[in-house]
Amino acid sequence: MTAELDIVRSVAELRARVKYWRDQGLTIALVPTMGALHQGHLSLVTKALEHADRVVASVFVNPTQFGPNEDFSRYPRQEERDAALLEGAGCHLLFAPTVTEMYPDGFATTVTVAGVADGLCGTVRPGHFAGVATVVTKLLLQALPDVAVFGEKDWQQLAVIRRFARDLDIPVGIVGAPTLREADGLALSSRNAYMTPEERAIAPWLKRGLDGVADGLRAGASAADLCPKAIDGLLKAGFASVDYLEVRDAETLAPVDKLDRPVRILVAARLGKTRLIDNIGVVPASR
Ligand code: PAJ
Repeated sequence: MTAELDIVRSVAELRARVKYWRDQGLTIALVPTMGALHQGHLSLVTKALEHADRVVASVFVNPTQFGPNEDFSRYPRQEERDAALLEGAGCHLLFAPTVTEMYPDGFATTVTVAGVADGLCGTVRPGHFAGVATVVTKLLLQALPDVAVFGEKDWQQLAVIRRFARDLDIPVGIVGAPTLREADGLALSSRNAYMTPEERAIAPWLKRGLDGVADGLRAGASAADLCPKAIDGLLKAGFASVDYLEVRDAETLAPVDKLDRPVRILVAARLGKTRLIDNIGVVPASR
């Protein structure tokens, strides 16, 4: 039996609960989410439980990270279901603030990150990472956990969060967790629910495209040669468009052509109205 999950909606209540735990000498992990939870999110809770005595999950559909033509208003909101899933995963507290709690009248501060936030999703979704960096900075300072857990599924987001946490001396360990996938390779995502059955059947080609580029890099081919072919393959498979498919340095996200260091292959593509992203890592064979 798991204890019933408590839900708090104000920063003051969140801080009071964290202080109560701290006074008992307990450690705390935070798992930020936008809800519409799936097993991928719950695997972050499991990871958080390996790092701390108490786990706080946040569910907040953050308006500042959505562009004007993006899916903020239709993003799935299902708090009761999310709370039940979190409780089952062993989470101790759900922080589900309102938009006005997070962004009260007069709010005027934005956290922007250069370098790792430029390019890839940063180009296709202007302002997105500033919205993410601002809300995650707030969540980290509100909860002040020992660690916060984020998925590698959003590799560029993880790189952005690591960067500003270091730059702003935020005293929270940033922990990355591997991507959870369906049996056919499709990365779990709240946005998968948008797809029609036809689109869902095409979606696994995204991961196959990444695997193809990984094989090519291991065989000595260049990104300049492999990426355009892989993009072509996705369009032929039925994707409407490909925002990017690139090979980058796994840490700095600088463009890379050959497998001469640990790299990340990152892709974003559109299937009908749904935008899917994914990435995998490849390391050079040890000599
Ligand atoms: P959201 O898309 O809800 O994702 C919450 C966390 O779950 C992120 O760290 C994301 O990388 C992770 N995640 C998503 N799919 C996953 C999968 N298949 N396997 C493992 N982890 C997965 O990312 C956000 O929300 C927001 O940008 C947020 C960080 C909460 C700021 O608003």
